[in-house]
Parts: sequence; structure tokens; C-alpha cells
Amino acid sequence: MSRKHELLNLMNIDTSWIKNIPNSKMNLSNFTSLELEAKNCHACALSNTRNNVVFGKGNQKAKILIIGEAPGKDEDLSGEPFVGRAGKLLNEILFSMKLSRDNVYITNTVKCRPPENRNPLSSEVEKCTPYLINQINLIKPKLIVALGKVAGQTLLKENMLIKEMRKKTHQYNDIPLIVTYHP
Ligand code: URA
Repeated sequence: MSRKHELLNLMNIDTSWIKNIPNSKMNLSNFTSLELEAKNCHACALSNTRNNVVFGKGNQKAKILIIGEAPGKDEDLSGEPFVGRAGKLLNEILFSMKLSRDNVYITNTVKCRPPENRNPLSSEVEKCTPYLINQINLIKPKLIVALGKVAGQTLLKENMLIKEMRKKTHQYNDIPLIVTYHP
């Protein structure tokens, strides 16, 4: 939560209506404040239609960070990432790798559900990316797994096709990054 929000909250003033504009210099030192900031975010129109901000879930000290695209209907209703059909598949993939959700941290590129599950707009991705960057900086994973085109292109800052991105291990700020198909 920003200092401005904190002070207004101390005065019992509702801050949920304030349009906060995250920027990549936002450097929140812990997960709780970052999550609170995201939950109060009105930087794009997705905040008008969401039921919940889906910030992310899992082990904040995980070596593996998994990044999807955006919450779907089930995720929007529950506030947790990958709980619907894609989540079941992701659980099976993790299980086959002898991993569970407790070993990893799972989040999305965009934290609010795009209506009708459309692809997030580039403006929405842009507004939401500072949250993702801060999550990466706080978790400091040893490996990032980007699921799908949106996550891959956001981190690589390139318009590559997924079949091209899959071909090699990339680096995101010296962290190995693999891009694979979305489940
Ligand atoms: N697809 C995603 O990319 N993220 C979710 O949380 C669910 C489905």
C-alpha cells in the first residue's frame, strides 16, 4: 500500500476509488504490501469487472516461479490462480515432475480477469507488469516458467511466436526462463 493510501486509511477514508498507477519503479519490500497494492489497483478497466484480484499463490521462497496469462472465471471467483480446468492439468504436470503447489509459486501476467476470457490487451499487460516484476524480485526464483505467449512475450519483451520461444532457455535478469505452452 502506498504512503498516500496508508495515511488516508489511518483517517478512515476509503481509498478504493483512487486510481493508482503502478510503475516499474514501484519497489515494495514485502509481499504483503505488494499484494495489498494490487488488491486496491484500479490502473485499468479490468478492475471494474473483476470479482477478485488474483495476485498469486504458493511458496514465496520457491525456486520455481510459474507465470500464466490471466485469471479465468474460476480464478476470478476464488481469487486463486489456476484452480479451474487448466489448473487441474497444471497440478498433474507438477505431480509428474514430483512437485506440488507447495514447492512453487504460481501467478499470472495480468492479475484480473479479462471479460469473456479474451486475451489481455497490451495496455492491461503494461499496467500490470510492475506487479509481476516486483514478485520476481521478491521471490528471486532459480527458474521462471512462462506458460503461453502472453507471459513469454511480456518477460522477453519480444513479439516472438510461442514455437520460437520454446526452442531455448532464455534469461530474465540472469534467471533462466523457459517458455512453454499454456495448459
Ligand atoms: N489460465 C491462466 O493463465 N491463469 C489462470 O490462473 C487460469 C487459467
